[in-house]
Amino acid sequence: EWILSNGEIVKEQDLEISKEDRGYQFGDGIYEVIRVYEGDLFTATEHIDRFYASAEKIRITVPYTKDVFHKMLYDLVELNQIDNGQVYVQITRGAAPRNHQFPENAEPVVVGYTKSVERPVKFLGNGVKALFVEDVRWLRCDIKSLNLLGNVMAKQQAYEEGYFEAILHRGDTVTEGSSSNMYGIKDGVLYTHPATNLILNGITRRVIFELCNELGIEVAETAFTKQQALEMDEFFMSSTTSEVMPVIEISGQKIADGSPGELTRKLQKAFEARIK
Ligand code: PDD
Repeated sequence: EWILSNGEIVKEQDLEISKEDRGYQFGDGIYEVIRVYEGDLFTATEHIDRFYASAEKIRITVPYTKDVFHKMLYDLVELNQIDNGQVYVQITRGAAPRNHQFPENAEPVVVGYTKSVERPVKFLGNGVKALFVEDVRWLRCDIKSLNLLGNVMAKQQAYEEGYFEAILHRGDTVTEGSSSNMYGIKDGVLYTHPATNLILNGITRRVIFELCNELGIEVAETAFTKQQALEMDEFFMSSTTSEVMPVIEISGQKIADGSPGELTRKLQKAFEARIK
């Protein structure tokens, strides 16, 4: 198993991470998850752009050009012979004696690795159940930060109660999932939270907007309430790993008749056409 470590591709056993890496101690870093379909990185450019943008927002400079970075990720996938899977990559502010303020002389630490994963075809076919959980995260959810405690606690609560995902809400307003974006369809219009500081602007979300455009589905980047969510004709979530995932029940209440919706199915089909 080859991994990416600070600009070099090395054997996993050669990875050394300091006890004082700021990612480890403060969650002081950012990350990306990129899907690999048939040996190819899906929407790599968009993920790489967001990686650099997240880093910049927390004032970390990625120490290579985007092209070099892209090539490293591609080489990693090839060396590990990943057919269907994903790449995880993170950058932290580096290792330094523990102080909250930025260290003066630390070099950023980049680690990336691959994993083989199949598409979640069963869930994509049947749909999943989700649970409302209060969104208690910070106010910079637009940054793909390593600080994921709010997301982790929400997902764990959903998981323990038998749900696939947590639907986060600030007060009455639905924001996104613990690791996904959320959408409702009402009278043929697709509603989703606007890309503000309160959500991560998903790459899959952007692909879905393109697909809606192709299919003639109107998109409203307008937030909706928990009550409105329950009254949608169709509901689904999206992420790099979940693709276009039908949500058929929320907090014990069925959405419409409790089966994946028609436009959701159309979007799933259109999405599949993109990845094959
Ligand atoms: N999560 N919102 C949050 C909070 C997320 O963590 C993610 C992705 C998304 C969807 O973004 P994208 O479509 O770019 O994957 C939205 C990744 C997959 C993860 O943390 O594993």
